[in-house]
Amino acid sequence: MFLYLRRSQGLLWEILLMGATIAADCPPKCICDIFKVNCRNKGFVSFPKNLPLNTRYLDLSRNSITEINSLQINLLSDLVYLDCSHNAISEVSKLDFLAGSRVAYLDLSYNTLKRVGATTFQTLASLIVLKLAHNKIRNVQNNAFDSNIGIRELDLRNNSLTFVNVTAIKTLSGLHSVYLSGNPWDCQCTVKDLSQWLQKDKSLFPDDKDTVCRSPNSMAGIKVSDALNNILHICLAPLDYFDYIFFVMVGVTIFISGIIVATISGIIMVYLDRQRKYTETDDDIEPVLYPPAKSNMRFSQINT
Ligand SMILES: *[C@@H]1O[C@H](CO)[C@@H](O)[C@H](O)[C@H]1NC(C)=O
Repeated sequence: MFLYLRRSQGLLWEILLMGATIAADCPPKCICDIFKVNCRNKGFVSFPKNLPLNTRYLDLSRNSITEINSLQINLLSDLVYLDCSHNAISEVSKLDFLAGSRVAYLDLSYNTLKRVGATTFQTLASLIVLKLAHNKIRNVQNNAFDSNIGIRELDLRNNSLTFVNVTAIKTLSGLHSVYLSGNPWDCQCTVKDLSQWLQKDKSLFPDDKDTVCRSPNSMAGIKVSDALNNILHICLAPLDYFDYIFFVMVGVTIFISGIIVATISGIIMVYLDRQRKYTETDDDIEPVLYPPAKSNMRFSQINT
C-alpha cells in the first residue's frame, strides 16, 4: 500500500513537474523550431523529456532509445510526424500511442521490434505512412492494421516474417505501396492468399521482384507472386472445395442441357417424320407395291 502510494505520488509529482515545464524550451542537445523538435543522432539512450507540448514534428532517429515513454509521448497530442528509426526499441504497444490520433507518419524502422499486435497501432486512425522495415518482426497479428484505414504506405521490409494474413490488409482502400521483400517467406499452401494478392495488384508492390520464398527448399528463391503456380497442384485439395462444387455443378448443367437438347431434337425429329409420312401418304403411296398375299405368307412362315 505504502509502496503503491509512493509510486503514484511519484507519478503525480512527475506530471506536476511536467505541468510546470510546459513552457519548457527544448530537451538538451536537440534543435527546436516552431512545432518542430529535432533530436537526431544526439546520443539519447532514453526517450527525451521536456518536449514542447505543441510539438508536431519529432525526429528521434539515430539514437539508442530502448523504449517509447508512454507518459512523455502522450502529452504530445498534436504530434503528426514521429521518426524513431535507428534506435533500439524492442516493443511498442497501444499505450504508447493513446493520444496519437493525429500521427500520420510513424517511422520505427531499424529497431528490434519482434511483433505487431492486433491493437498496437489501433489508436493511430490518421496514419498514412507506417515504416517497420529492418526489425525482427516474426508475427503480424490478424487485423493489426484494421483501424489504420487511411494508410497508404506500409513497409515491412527485412523482417523475419514467414507468413502474414493478408485478409484484412487487402481491404484497406487507400493502400498505395506495400513493401514485403527481405522476409523469409514460407511458400507452402499458407502463402496462397499472399501470392494471389501479389499477382493481382502488381502496382501495389514496388519490391515484388525481391519478395521471394525462403522455404521449403524446393521453393527457395522463387518469387512469392509466382509461388501459387508452383504449389497449386499440391494445395488444390484442401483449398478448392468450392471449385469441386463448381465442377460438379458444371457437370450437372451439361448433363441436364444434354437431356433437354436430346428431348427437343427427338420431338422435332418425330414431328418432322410424321410430317413427311403425311405428305408421303397424300402423294405417292400405291397399294400395288405391297401385295397382301406375299406378306401374309411371310407372317405365317415366321409363326410356324
Ligand atoms: C486471417 O484473418 C481473418 C480475419 O481477418 C480470419 O478470419 C482468418 O481465419 C485468418 N486466416 C488465417 C489463415 O489465419
